[in-house]
Amino acid sequence: MIYNIACMDILLLQKDAQKKIDGCASLNDLEQLHTAYLGKNGEINKLLQTIKDLSLDDKKTAGKQINELKQTLTRFLSEKKVSLTEKQSNETKFDVTLPGTPFPRGTLHPITIAISEISAIFEKIGFIRMSYPEIDYEYFAFEALNMPSTHAARDDFETTFLSTPENKTYGRMVLTPHTSNGQVREMLRVKNPPIRMINIGKCYRPNWDPTHTPMFHQFEGLCVDKDITIAHLKGTLDYFVKEYFGKDTMIRLRPHHFQFTEPSFEVDITCTVCKGTAVVNGNKCKICKSGWLELGGTGMTHPNVLKAGHIDPKIYSGWAFGFGIERVIMMKYGIDDIRNYYSGDVRFLNLF
Ligand code: DAH
Repeated sequence: MIYNIACMDILLLQKDAQKKIDGCASLNDLEQLHTAYLGKNGEINKLLQTIKDLSLDDKKTAGKQINELKQTLTRFLSEKKVSLTEKQSNETKFDVTLPGTPFPRGTLHPITIAISEISAIFEKIGFIRMSYPEIDYEYFAFEALNMPSTHAARDDFETTFLSTPENKTYGRMVLTPHTSNGQVREMLRVKNPPIRMINIGKCYRPNWDPTHTPMFHQFEGLCVDKDITIAHLKGTLDYFVKEYFGKDTMIRLRPHHFQFTEPSFEVDITCTVCKGTAVVNGNKCKICKSGWLELGGTGMTHPNVLKAGHIDPKIYSGWAFGFGIERVIMMKYGIDDIRNYYSGDVRFLNLF
């Protein structure tokens, strides 16, 4: 009977379909099986076409069986879909208690680190941190510091002037070549000493070589009070170098000349590499050659500078110093090229 053939077909198809659905490993493959059996041109529809010539009774029976097959396959397919979906989501599930993927983390720039270290060292002995303009009037950068416009010392700075209109009282604007511009500004701000300030900022001079960049940083100390002497200056510098470079570091003052201090000195510290002996492994120390490294300028505040700050030099005295930040870091860590700081090379920056 044709009906029997149809019945056999149905059983075989069901067996075959079940096997395929069971063995199906992905939702994509399952979707294809769905189309192959239940789609418009799928096996079920093909079967339905084969029964159109049967007698009415047989057609009814066969039709019922095909319908049952359709429902069975639909069930198989949807059960498999649930289990595959579950399997897939188990595979993609993650453990929230595991540590995340580490991101490469940046570091603070060595200049930023040094600024906070230097500020902290001076804060401990009562110095306040100030920031004064890096674009300032000639007056504060030079005149107020006892350096009139005709003075040859101004050539040393090779200052960059701005093309802004000139101020009648304060003159032209400059990219300040040193942080000393903060000295008189601080005196005018405080009005009545005592003054203990550390001014940290950017400075500009048109130089570019292993020890100079056109932009660099300085920190400027200023102390004004009654009866301030060189002893206070030496004591403070000694304290600073021991804190910053290490306990065994010593200082010496060499006579020098600055317009804004009298007397003036250059400060040297014992070399951080040879510890002041000038010898490393039986050879002359390559870093200092003499056991000493130059730190920067200092001196007792010139009476004219105090006057510019409206402070009476007969009652008050003071001292000041100005040191380069790039320079002190280089001395501390034995870095030989200042341009590393601004190279943007993370291999260098990550060392700090
Ligand atoms: N301003 C000087 C410079 O940049 C450094 C300096 C020397 C600052 C002596 C001072 C000082 O405060 O007293 O070369």
